[in-house]
Amino acid sequence: MSILSGKRILLVVGGGIAAYKSLDLVRRLRERGATVTPVMTAAAAHFVTPLSVGALSASKVFTDLFDREDEHDVGHIRLARGADAILVAPATADFMARAAAGRADDLATAILLATRAPVLMAPAMNPAMWAHPATRRNLARLEADGVRFVGPNAGEMAEAGEAGAGRMAEPLEIVAAAEVLFDAGHKPLAGRRAVVTSGPTHEPIDPVRYIANRSSGRQGHALAEALAALGAEVTLVSGPVAIADPPGVTVHHVETAREMLAAVEKAMPADIAVFVAAVADWRVTSESGAKIKKDAGGPPTLSLAENPDILSTIGHAPDRPKLVVGFAAETDALLDNARVKLDRKGADAIVANDVSPTAGVMGGTENTVHIVTREGVEDWPKLGKTDVARRLGDWIAARLAQLEAQ
Ligand code: CTP
Repeated sequence: MSILSGKRILLVVGGGIAAYKSLDLVRRLRERGATVTPVMTAAAAHFVTPLSVGALSASKVFTDLFDREDEHDVGHIRLARGADAILVAPATADFMARAAAGRADDLATAILLATRAPVLMAPAMNPAMWAHPATRRNLARLEADGVRFVGPNAGEMAEAGEAGAGRMAEPLEIVAAAEVLFDAGHKPLAGRRAVVTSGPTHEPIDPVRYIANRSSGRQGHALAEALAALGAEVTLVSGPVAIADPPGVTVHHVETAREMLAAVEKAMPADIAVFVAAVADWRVTSESGAKIKKDAGGPPTLSLAENPDILSTIGHAPDRPKLVVGFAAETDALLDNARVKLDRKGADAIVANDVSPTAGVMGGTENTVHIVTREGVEDWPKLGKTDVARRLGDWIAARLAQLEAQ
C-alpha cells in the first residue's frame, strides 16, 4: 500500500503548458489512494479546463478567492488546513515569484500562505526563465522557507528548438517526491556502505609546522550525517578539524593525505564514496625531525612531492564503489575545470563550488554548488551547508537507485 493512501493532497495547477501532465498526476495520486482537491490559477484555465481536472479528481475545482459561495462553504483557510500536503504542478516562474514574495492575491497563493502542511513544487518554464537570476533568487527563498522541489528536468521544450532545464518532472517523479514528504522514516540507503572524506590535510614541515588550507570540514561532516540519516552505514575519514564528530557515523581521524588514502582504502568496499576533503596536493619531502631553527642558515627551502590523489585512486580502482562523487573548489572556470576532473578522476559526479574570494565560502557556513555529471549540470541555489548535504544525500540516493535500475 502506498504511503499516500488516505492522504489529502491539495494540488495547485499553475498556468503553463505542462498543466496537461497534471491531469495524469491527479490520476496517479488517486491510484495510490490519495484524495485530490484541485485549485487552479486563473492562467491554468488557459491550458486545461476545470471540467477535465474536476472529472479526473472527482472533486470540486477551486479557482476563485473571491467566490462568495466557495468562501462561505469552504474558505481558503479551511482548504489550507484540510490538506496533508500541497503540490504545485506546474509551478510557473510567476507563481514562484508570487509565492516567494508571500503574496496572497489569488486563491492558490493565499492557501500557501495559510497552510502548515508541507509544500512540494514542480517548476516548469522556459530554460532562460529558469536560469534567470530572479528565478534563482525566488527558488532560494522558497527553499529557505521549507518548500521542497522536484525537477525541472532537462530536455526538449514545447517551444520548437529550445532545450535545457525547464521541463516539468514527470508525474511519477512528482508522486515519488510526494511520498518522501510523508515518509519520515525514509531510509533509501539502508544496507548501503558509504565513505566520506572531509576537512583539510596537514602536511608536516617539522614537528611544529605544517602546510594546510582553510577547509573547516563542515560540508563533509554534514554530508556524512545526511547519508547516515538516510540509513547508510557511513565511515567518515576526517583531516584535522575543530568541529565535533557527526552522530551515527564511524569516524577515523587522520592528518596527512597518505594517511587519508590508507584509511579510505581500509574502509572499502563501499557502495558510495564522496570525496569532500580538501587534500593537500603536495607534501614536504624535506620534513625535518627537529624544529627548523631561524638562525640555521637563512630561510629553508622546502622540497615538495605530489600526494596521492585519493578520489582518482578509488575512482579508477577495479572494485570501485557504484557511485563516486568528488568536490571541486574552484576560483576560475568553475564548470570547465569540474568537467575535466570528472573524467580525469573517474568520478560519476563532481560537486563544483566557487571559492573565489568574492564568493567567500571556503571555511564558511554556506555553499553555492553545481552538480556536474556526464549528462549535464544542475545549478543549486545558495544554501546552508546542512541543506546542501541533505539535498546531496537525496540526490545520491536517487542516483544510486537509477544506476541500479539500468
Ligand atoms: N582529491 C583527492 N586527493 C587529492 C586531491 C584531491 O581525493 N590528493 C579530491 C578532493 O577531495 C575533491 C577532488 O579531488 O573531491 C577535487 O579536488 P581539487 O583540489 O579541486 O582537485 P585537484 O586535482 O587538486 O586540482 P587543482 O588543485 O589543480 O584544481
